[in-house]
Amino acid sequence: MSMAWAILLSLVIVAALSRQVTAAYGDGERIFYLQAHRGYSGRFPENTLLAYKEAVAAKADVIELDVRLSADGVAFVMHDENLERTTNGRGPIAATAAAQIKELDAGSWFDPRFAGERVPTLAEALEFCRGQVRVNIELKTRRLDDAMMRRTVEETARVIDQCDMWDQVLLSSFHFPALAYAGAIRPQATTALLDWDVERTVDRQLDVLKIGGKGWFIHPKMVTSEKVALAHERGLMVTCGAGNNPAGREESVQLLIDAGVDVISTNFPYEVAAILERQGLRRL
Ligand code: G3P
Ligand code: MG
Repeated sequence: MSMAWAILLSLVIVAALSRQVTAAYGDGERIFYLQAHRGYSGRFPENTLLAYKEAVAAKADVIELDVRLSADGVAFVMHDENLERTTNGRGPIAATAAAQIKELDAGSWFDPRFAGERVPTLAEALEFCRGQVRVNIELKTRRLDDAMMRRTVEETARVIDQCDMWDQVLLSSFHFPALAYAGAIRPQATTALLDWDVERTVDRQLDVLKIGGKGWFIHPKMVTSEKVALAHERGLMVTCGAGNNPAGREESVQLLIDAGVDVISTNFPYEVAAILERQGLRRL
């Protein structure tokens, strides 16, 4: 093959891979996608429908939420293993019946003016997001045994089936077996690995590729433009967090802009969108 053909072929492959990267999040028009982490959780009680509504109002492209099962196997949206921090309940969510979880106040802990916010079921959260914002469902399974991990993945998949929203959701996890299982039982799932181990030298992008995953979600301390470029060459989309601390907000966002990540995840979507917009990197 001549040099000119080889160059042309590489350009076509790179263009195809870039499309694959952005295809995981849809329209492919935005330079940066904005993910509202647990909704607009910097200003509203995390993982509530109010926090999601405000994230949509702030023009987030994606809402990140965390999934756990109740004692009777209903998928709820909650970050912690225990109810104490974000509700007026006590004990593990996994030991509490769905009917009791539905009675809890998930807003007052954040501010008394949010009293009455509830812990949404995954189905309620997805119904709210339908047609207006993409959803990154984080499978909180790392500390569960295999049987419970599978139940969590199966119930999550069942709810997505029921809502018929596979084209609008992404499944992410720190727990590789959960992602592998999700991909095995639902080949149509878009999956992404959360790789937070800043000390590790292992190339976990390869794990993502092994299961046909599309995303590599990393800790800001791991970001370099070389690693991001390698992920892009491999057809992976890169997500990283920034902008949560008002003091270093601009700098933390700039680090990700310079490194070329695809998705910025933040508790403050409106504020981060404004930074991107000032640089012409996004339309508000
Ligand atoms: O999207 C990544 C992030 O949600 C993982 O951390 O603890 O906030 O669920 P955590
Ligand atoms: Mg999460």
